[in-house]
Amino acid sequence: MAIISIASTKGGVGKTSLAYSLAKDLDYRYATNDMSVVLNKYKKARYYPGKIPLYQDTVYDFGGFDAHHADEILRASDIILLPTTNDLNSIMKSLIFIKNYKEKTILVFANMIDNPNDASMIKAKIHEHFPNLAFTYLRRTKLLKNALETGMSASELFESTKHNQHLYRHSYLEYQKILKLFKTDGMYFQAPSV
Ligand SMILES: Nc1ncnc2c1ncn2[C@@H]1O[C@H](COP(=O)(O)OP(=O)(O)O)[C@@H](O)[C@H]1O
Ligand SMILES: [Mg+2]
Repeated sequence: MAIISIASTKGGVGKTSLAYSLAKDLDYRYATNDMSVVLNKYKKARYYPGKIPLYQDTVYDFGGFDAHHADEILRASDIILLPTTNDLNSIMKSLIFIKNYKEKTILVFANMIDNPNDASMIKAKIHEHFPNLAFTYLRRTKLLKNALETGMSASELFESTKHNQHLYRHSYLEYQKILKLFKTDGMYFQAPSV
């Protein structure tokens, strides 16, 4: 049981791709304030142009960020995943976001990581201002993109063939770390430890 929000005021950082796979893997609703292809791919996906209802067992994808409608959901979320890429604009926007939601459990999700240095750099820049904030990363991979395109979740795609298990072996482990936060004990969300 959890309310998971994936948010970022920056576009193109991976919110929708991650939100879709997580929702499908958890068998959660997917709710968004931004039109996306997920609406055609996942039967539990809904688009809310106006007021967004608060549901349990839901992954909220707050792209097309409209703070007014998203704010209430963000405040009620068990966790906010904050995708951040290795560019100054993305990091700056994440820092501002964290400041606005500093009482919330936030997991910084460093995305599209090209090498380990990228991840350390994002982590250092975030920790400079918010030490101890939980942090995880996903390398640059087609896992989420191909999952969305085929209508499978990342886990379904990974498990579908031996070839895919080989192809996505590294990225799937990274993705699985996030998934496991919500699958621990089968029921309850566990706050990530740093
Ligand atoms: N880890 C990743 N590696 C490479 N490409 C990624 C990764 N995560 C997302 N992408 C790609 O980046 C693009 C933007 O992702 P999207 O989920 O639409 O971002 P947002 O919802 O934040 O605008 C998409 O083409 C998506 O497939
Ligand atoms: Mg999006």
